[in-house]
Amino acid sequence: MILVTGATGKVGREVVRQLAAENIPARALVRDPTRASHLRLPGIEILVGDLAQPETLPAAFGGVERVFLATPAAPDQVELQSNALEAARRAGAQRIVKVSVAGGPDAGTQIGRWHWATEKQIEASGLDFTFLRPTLYMQQMCAYAPSIAATGTFSFPVGAGRIAVVDTRDVAAVGVKALTEDGHHRRIYDLTGPEALSYDDMADAISEAIGKKVAFAHVPPEYAKKQMLADGVPRWLVDDMLVLAASFRDGYGAAVTHTVADVTKQKPRTFRQFARDYAGVFRAGR
Ligand SMILES: NC(=O)c1ccc[n+]([C@@H]2O[C@H](COP(=O)([O-])OP(=O)(O)OC[C@H]3O[C@@H](n4cnc5c(N)ncnc54)[C@H](OP(=O)(O)O)[C@@H]3O)[C@@H](O)[C@H]2O)c1
Repeated sequence: MILVTGATGKVGREVVRQLAAENIPARALVRDPTRASHLRLPGIEILVGDLAQPETLPAAFGGVERVFLATPAAPDQVELQSNALEAARRAGAQRIVKVSVAGGPDAGTQIGRWHWATEKQIEASGLDFTFLRPTLYMQQMCAYAPSIAATGTFSFPVGAGRIAVVDTRDVAAVGVKALTEDGHHRRIYDLTGPEALSYDDMADAISEAIGKKVAFAHVPPEYAKKQMLADGVPRWLVDDMLVLAASFRDGYGAAVTHTVADVTKQKPRTFRQFARDYAGVFRAGR
């Protein structure tokens, strides 16, 4: 049996959908089943549990052999993932496929260091493991949908930096292969889309998809910082976003890998394809 954590999240929901489409039975771990109606799919069992409350986990993890591990990027992520690892170990699971982040030990962000700490714990656990290290998700652009719908603009202090953004459906497809096939143990997969794009390029693709001009506003880091803090973004996340933006500006997000195609035998989606598929979100602003 496969258990998917973060099953309502950007990657987890796609893993659940793809397992259901392939008729592979699985469990989806959710905190609030009333927000999981989209996971009611053939062969999918929805189980309630909270990784912050280890006592809720044995029932969900019982009999599980393989775990897909995704949690939010947050200050308690190391603890949440450690609780999941412990529940998996106690249940006798053999394999864990973890969503990590690009950079590994060299990631300059706090989020990257937290992921690295969990990767080390998993390596020491004795379980078979695969780490997925995606670059920025294309779906992250949906966070700008309210601004795009209201003002036709969005901003982030990345300048002309290019990023090989990846679609979460492709990250999930690699995860499904790692869960269901042999040969992925101890593999670390750096996952990107097929091309490196600037935010101006992405604005053009969204414009084309929604049939309305969308402009990317170039803003300095100080301006972005003030705006994020005014919007209530926690300070640690503001700091991490500025480190990430600076690394993108300096070209660190631009390397393209062929891992999605190598593992799934399918070409990764382009940003134009993503923008067409999510045009409704950018038009509606949510
Ligand atoms: N965003 C990017 O561009 C990007 C790029 C590379 C890597 N990543 C990594 O991808 C991972 C997922 O990020 P995301 O943006 O995809 O997150 P997300 O969509 O917000 O998904 C987070 C998931 O974790 C669940 N969750 C939250 N707290 C939980 C708890 N206490 N117990 C059990 N489940 C809990 C959420 O469920 P609820 O519905 O209950 O809230 C949700 O399903 C992160 O580790 C991040 O570092 C993100």
